[in-house]
Amino acid sequence: MAKTALITGILGQDGPYLAKFLLSKGYKVYGMIRRYSNPNFGNLDFLGITDKVEYVDGDMSDESSLYNIVKALRPLEVYNLAAQSFVGRSWDLAKITTEVNALGVLYLLNAIKAYSPMTKFYQASTSEMFGLGNTKGYQDENTTFHPRSPYGISKVYAFWTTVNFRESYGLFTCNGILFNHESPIRGIQFVTRKITDGVAKIKYGLANKLHLGNLDAKRDWGFAGDFVEATHLMLQQKNPDDYVVGTGENHSVREFVELAFKYGGIPNWKKYVVIDPRFKRPAEVPELLAKGDKARKVLGWKPKVSFDELVRMMVEADLKRYKISSKFKIQSSK
Ligand code: NAP
Ligand code: GDD
Repeated sequence: MAKTALITGILGQDGPYLAKFLLSKGYKVYGMIRRYSNPNFGNLDFLGITDKVEYVDGDMSDESSLYNIVKALRPLEVYNLAAQSFVGRSWDLAKITTEVNALGVLYLLNAIKAYSPMTKFYQASTSEMFGLGNTKGYQDENTTFHPRSPYGISKVYAFWTTVNFRESYGLFTCNGILFNHESPIRGIQFVTRKITDGVAKIKYGLANKLHLGNLDAKRDWGFAGDFVEATHLMLQQKNPDDYVVGTGENHSVREFVELAFKYGGIPNWKKYVVIDPRFKRPAEVPELLAKGDKARKVLGWKPKVSFDELVRMMVEADLKRYKISSKFKIQSSK
């Protein structure tokens, strides 16, 4: 089979990093986008690859669109990154979250089974599936799932469906159980980017407060550009399997805030941060910490970017964005 890859969720955070990585390995990359009146290619533009990807139209909630795409392309690899991925909204959007994140995976796997059984399939599983199943202080491939949100529940369904297609039909299907990974193109609702964006706005006088929820939550935060390499490695193994991928180090939201304000050159973050109950969740996942020994041993993968470097990279990118737009504002008001 030709070196072709289909990425669903190409316009999100991970899609562009994965596409860039696969292009560098000589793949022809197809990106699936859903119907939008005005699709946003900003993240692909940020990485300079918008014109290097070929786009196909499809929607995870529309079974026939997935069948048509798989039938037409018969790709060597499918990376299923598409999801309603924001945990915080998943209580309000439980139905669509389930349809896209859970049933969408069933549809896509059925399409592969029917039209392209040699295709290798990657499912973007998540540490959110562990939720409270954290009895040892860390999570690995043997940790019990105890999801705490409609998002986490939908991803548990998708996880087991991926395993089941492997066990029932012999398809090459893998779950990457990825812990939080961030970047300068992280969605603005997620806490890391919300903080770095807030720091930049405060720096340039565009805001004077940053409203946040639970500062005590701890996450194992890595860099998206590193993590997509692990996803690719999973599909290059002799046998399909499931892997936990994380840095093995966690930090609280408070620590992220402190560091981001420091890199923004703004002393005394407490002056700006407001604890706002609107950003607290009905059920929280208090702490996640990866024990990713299997990925390190079998895939030979390890993260390159540290927590400190990640925060700095994100703050610098947002400062640059607002510096450019504030210059533009000054020029256009002249
Ligand atoms: P993201 O930025 O939210 O991107 C998700 C993408 O899915 C978006 O491009 C979105 O399209 C697309 N999408 C949503 N609904 C769709 C539908 N009905 N049909 C087709 N596409 C649809 O997420 P990400 O951070 O890149 O994460 C990628 C995947 O990894 C997700 O499945 C996420 O759940 C999972 N994951 C992420 C992390 C993390 O820390 N980032 C950790 C573990 C697992 P639009 O652009 O049109 O909205
Ligand atoms: N979003 C957000 N906004 N989160 C906040 C805020 C806030 O104002 N204040 C505190 N938090 C806390 C959340 O309660 C949570 O404990 C933590 O910050 C991280 O929240 P998010 O950045 O929204 O990420 P997440 O951990 O819920 O989910 C992300 O990581 C998962 C992997 O563990 C998403 O990328 C998921 O798609 C992914 O599966």
